Amino acid sequence: MRLILAKNIGFCFGVRRAIDMAVDMLKRQGKLYILGELIHNKDVIERIERMGALTVHSVEEVPCGQTLLIRSHGVAPEVVKRCQERGIIVKNATCPFVEKIHNIVSHQYACGRTILIYGKDDHPECIGTNGCCNDQGVFVHTKADIDALDPTKRVCLVSQTTADAEGFEKIASLVKAHFVDAIIEKTVCPTTAARQKEAEKLSQSCTKMVVIGDKNSSNTTKLASVCKKYCKHVHSVAKESELSLEKIAYNDIIGIVSGASAPDWKIREVITRMSEMEKTMAGNPVENDGIETGAAAAVEEPIVAECDCKNEAKCACECNAEQTEEPKADEPAEEKSEAADPSFAEAFEKTLVRIRNGQILTGSVVQIVDGEVCVNIGYKSDGFIPRNEFSSDADVNPADVVKIGDPIEVEVIKVNDGEGNVLLSHKNVESKKMWDSLMQDENISDKVFEGIGKEVVKGGLIATIEGVRAFIPASQLSTKYVEKIEDLVGKPITLKVIEVDKARKRIVASHKAVMVAEAEAARKQRWSELEVGSKVKGVVRRLTDFGAFVDIGGGIDGLVHVTDVAWGRVKHPKDVLSIGQEIEVLIRDVDVEKQRVSLGYKQLQPKPWTMADQKYPIGSIVEGKVVRIVPFGAFVALEPTIDGLIHISQVGVKRIAKVEDEINVGDVVRCKVLDVNTEAKRISLSRREAILEEHPEIAEELAQEKAERVRIAAERAAERAAQDAQRQQERENRRSSERRAPQGDKPERSERRERPRRDEDAYDLPPVEQSTTSLAGLFAAAMANAEKKDEE
Ligand code: F3S
Repeated sequence: MRLILAKNIGFCFGVRRAIDMAVDMLKRQGKLYILGELIHNKDVIERIERMGALTVHSVEEVPCGQTLLIRSHGVAPEVVKRCQERGIIVKNATCPFVEKIHNIVSHQYACGRTILIYGKDDHPECIGTNGCCNDQGVFVHTKADIDALDPTKRVCLVSQTTADAEGFEKIASLVKAHFVDAIIEKTVCPTTAARQKEAEKLSQSCTKMVVIGDKNSSNTTKLASVCKKYCKHVHSVAKESELSLEKIAYNDIIGIVSGASAPDWKIREVITRMSEMEKTMAGNPVENDGIETGAAAAVEEPIVAECDCKNEAKCACECNAEQTEEPKADEPAEEKSEAADPSFAEAFEKTLVRIRNGQILTGSVVQIVDGEVCVNIGYKSDGFIPRNEFSSDADVNPADVVKIGDPIEVEVIKVNDGEGNVLLSHKNVESKKMWDSLMQDENISDKVFEGIGKEVVKGGLIATIEGVRAFIPASQLSTKYVEKIEDLVGKPITLKVIEVDKARKRIVASHKAVMVAEAEAARKQRWSELEVGSKVKGVVRRLTDFGAFVDIGGGIDGLVHVTDVAWGRVKHPKDVLSIGQEIEVLIRDVDVEKQRVSLGYKQLQPKPWTMADQKYPIGSIVEGKVVRIVPFGAFVALEPTIDGLIHISQVGVKRIAKVEDEINVGDVVRCKVLDVNTEAKRISLSRREAILEEHPEIAEELAQEKAERVRIAAERAAERAAQDAQRQQERENRRSSERRAPQGDKPERSERRERPRRDEDAYDLPPVEQSTTSLAGLFAAAMANAEKKDEE
């Protein structure tokens, strides 16, 4: 007899997950309510209930504050809502594949589509699915069901996860043909589909088929019906006692498949029982030969058994609850099976390939749900890759990289993650490959890599270099201090590898090293480009008494000497330039050896006096700073190299004794340009004119004062004229009276004695030829003669 075990056997991923969640919670809190039977397997339910689980059939049976587990079939959103209203703590063990259907149905129903469901309308999973569309879903099984519907409706077809894949395909093609707008969602669980396919294949090559699973299990029933298509002798059993392989022959080939809710220990019991039957079989030519060779050779792909703990008994057991308990008398302990039939146990164990943490395997993708990838690794249960273990790049969406059926390399992170799942990592495999490829690069220390900042860690940043994580110390992030390292997360960063620890697979990288190398290269390049007489642009970096340092690129700072800053006299470069100012300069000299560059700024500026008459047209008002005061006026700087003069008479609106009475050095004054002489480099300014122009009220006041002065002067002049006339009259009168008076009479006293007239000879006049001498000259000469006479 040969036994052929199906590759996909035992609990499926979703069932295992639900059981492990239940067991875990029971261990922690001792009591747990489960809505409906956890799985379609009485033995498992009994075991769970012995641990403290209570199976209820409605939310109302659960007291407030208690924990309720939703089984893998899932429930309608309405049920969860009711739980929340009653204060029940909900633990959701809905299989991710079922959750995916719920999401599809909710979304498509919200989009106005009619939901068509291919499945049993009384199955708990379908009831939950229908609840996602307010129980408005239409169950379709036949062409008549579809024909009865309005073809203009927009529909979305989903299936029960455990539905028959072939039947779904037929319904899908009918729906497509009938409706104008139909969305077909293939939601048959890949595990179910794989088991059905395997059952179909096995049943074609086996003389007898054994289907292990509960009668209530939908997928077990489906498996049996698939097997019956090709095999006449199909035996559906829930446990080993139901097994009666009548007329079993020593040359029979028996295929064994199981439903998703059949525990492994049940499968072992059935196989052990078959082994016993085979021993007692009449006509068996070689004892045990059939089992030994049949089981090992016929299983095309070996069953993979876990080995997380070196505990054989634990590894062989499928339920953690039972692993921790002592085997009970009425329970089929694994050790008992092996003791009862060591030959079979050996044969069976030979078929098992153990997995361990860290092992690299190649599996195939069976499902991608919410970024988690479910992978068939040939193990009794599928493994899953959490999203963060798929790729070292968190932005990668697994669905964009792999699709169902794709082979994928994974590393076993945990044979059992505590919930009975095999935890896998694709990222680790990728990283290992990348590490190896990186290490093969002989120029690793010279090469510049394009990295991406990933996360801030203590003391620096983690970045990836070709998928390999590298640590960048904070001091190596830049040539300058980096204040916010988190700003580099998610950004590209060029890196040089500065340290490799192959043993610990660690890389230390530096961005600063790249910056330094780049700066050096730019510097060299820049030096080679510098040409005396050419113009370059730069930024003023530093100002000193003797000049300004200008960054002309490539890390080169040239010097503009203070004498080359401006055409005029400049006390300090800051009078003309400021730090950070972008300027164009002339390269005056380059000394590569000493690494010095002399620059000129003023050489590229127009000479100031050439444009002065245009910049300061006569009559315009300008502003400047008083820089120097002299007795005859004040010098005003209109710009660093151009000063104008305000004559003292033009300093104020009124006459002043000295300039300081009106303005001082440092004052900013507004003046009117009176004259510009670019050749003589002179500008005449008038502050007075500017004031009068800008303040007409002052001008008016002055005009009034002047008019008043004129009037007073006129009055005085008139008065003086009158007095003169009167005096003249008096003189005339006196003379005439003197003429009339007899000789010897004394003249009357007058107020003023008439000045004795002097004859011309009395003056010592110069000769006629000197008559062109000025009056002042004559006066001086007369004075000199008079003094001379006095001395004599
Ligand atoms: Fe889930 Fe598929 Fe099992 S839907 S519960 S993994 S059969």
